[in-house]
Amino acid sequence: MSRAIYPGTFDPITFGHLDIIERASHIFEETIIAVVKKPFKSVFLPYKDRLKLVQEATKSVKGVRVEGFSGLVVDYAKSKNINIIVRGIRMLSDFEYEFQMALTNRKLNPKIETIFLMPHPKYSYLSSRLIREIAYLGGNLDEFLPKCCIEEINKKIKSK
Ligand code: COA
Repeated sequence: MSRAIYPGTFDPITFGHLDIIERASHIFEETIIAVVKKPFKSVFLPYKDRLKLVQEATKSVKGVRVEGFSGLVVDYAKSKNINIIVRGIRMLSDFEYEFQMALTNRKLNPKIETIFLMPHPKYSYLSSRLIREIAYLGGNLDEFLPKCCIEEINKKIKSK
């Protein structure tokens, strides 16, 4: 069975991530979306909310499973017996960071390969950070996020 892991922070999951997930689901029989529990950057949504929103947003995509993980992504992949990591490249500016991460992961575990997928150009400018900023400033999020995420983010902002 062909399987891959798509790891990320998903703070929150956007239409751009969903585009990558759908593309991966056409290539692999099973794609595990791995939501990092404690990323090395500050997050807006707690782990449980990020996980729940990824689950809701992907429930109609066939061959996709959502899990949380901590520790190194290569160790998590190994524990699942998976040797492919999927990452999305939106534009050239993503490349340097992704290239570094892929080569570092390869150094940590040479058996694990990273493959890159490109989202549809209409999503190439999307970023979770800018979406969080729009949300804080009361902008319309319909073009960027699934409905379940918009409701959760608006709730979160109101409660702050
Ligand atoms: N559409 C829209 N946005 C996208 C996107 C897409 N297709 N692909 C990436 N992004 C955005 C994200 O929204 C996020 O934006 P933000 O920084 O403005 O919030 C940014 O690109 C990157 O986020 P993400 O794709 O979630 O990945 P990440 O850089 O947060 O990395 C892990 C997450 C899980 C891959 C990484 O932290 C990791 O591997 N952690 C485990 C520890 C480890 O193994 N470390 C060693 C790594 S070498």
